[in-house]
Amino acid sequence: MTSSLEPTTTAPLPVVLDVDTGVDDALAVMFAVRSPRLDLRAISCVAGNADVDQVVANTLAVLDALDAPDVPVGRGAERPLVGPSRDARHIHGADGMGDQRLPASARLAADGGAIDLMRRAILESPDPVTLVPLAPMTNVALLLRAYPEVRDNLAGIVLMGGAVEGGNATAVAEFNVWHDPEAAAIVLGAGVPVTMYGLDVFSQVVVEAQTYEVLHGDPDPAVALAGRLLAHSHDVIRSDPRVGHGGLLGDAGAVCMVAQPDLLTTGRWPVHVELAPGRSRGQTVVDRRFVLGEDAVHGVDSLGHLVDVAVGVDAEGVRDLFLTTICAGPGASQVDDAARAVQR
Ligand code: BDR
Ligand code: CA
Repeated sequence: MTSSLEPTTTAPLPVVLDVDTGVDDALAVMFAVRSPRLDLRAISCVAGNADVDQVVANTLAVLDALDAPDVPVGRGAERPLVGPSRDARHIHGADGMGDQRLPASARLAADGGAIDLMRRAILESPDPVTLVPLAPMTNVALLLRAYPEVRDNLAGIVLMGGAVEGGNATAVAEFNVWHDPEAAAIVLGAGVPVTMYGLDVFSQVVVEAQTYEVLHGDPDPAVALAGRLLAHSHDVIRSDPRVGHGGLLGDAGAVCMVAQPDLLTTGRWPVHVELAPGRSRGQTVVDRRFVLGEDAVHGVDSLGHLVDVAVGVDAEGVRDLFLTTICAGPGASQVDDAARAVQR
């Protein structure tokens, strides 16, 4: 199996994002629009950090700030495959995006909805698409079940979700997997190469205050918005010693990995999504053993699906890639200041 992060061409890589915008999803959209390494073909929206209509509104508003009117946006699932939707507004604000009060977009979501949009974006791409779920995987699971033929034009799936160590939604489960564990299990088992950018690396990539404050005053509305979103993120997570020294890039880090895979270290292990009710529901159990266990010897448990699991990240490299990429937009006036602040 080839890793979903092994580049095979120097042409921009076609990508489709699945988002629940989302403070860090907004940063991810910014990077995907502005990266010369990526060809963003569509964005699908799903309930997660906020309800799906709010997610669509937020995503369109971010694309307006980026002056990216041609990126199609689809409205997807309004709840997980099983159970109710449970938002993360206590982290992402009442509007799901740090209460930024962005102007409402005049654009509408694509006719036909997110699943049809993803299907068309993948099948119509001349080169294989990398699918990048940054949210509960309800849309992606529905897509793979309804239209399994899309797998033939997928280079891989690079998802933000799961964790080797502890969780955030619960002690052991990461939010995107916890919100829809059945969907995550379907995605991991779909026969497409998967890279899991989980909490272990997600929590390591931050932008320090002295850098994001430079972005605040930028005349480019997207760059200024990135500064405000990073400040919101910093305010919310200050108490977490793992990430408390800056604003979290979060989902944007996973998209940076598609553009520059050598910033990530992965190991290939079986991963099982815990589906049983109870405290461990939604946990990603990553089997890093070297020696056959009694479970396999006695046939009491099946192996999970092989996944490239992120275990290390060049956090400064990702931060620098993100900043130089988003600052290289039409209003690139502050790029030198931002770069100097990065280098300190
Ligand atoms: C994930 O959950 C959401 O809060 C973020 O947008 C990210 O996708 C982190 O667990
Ligand atoms: Ca997200």
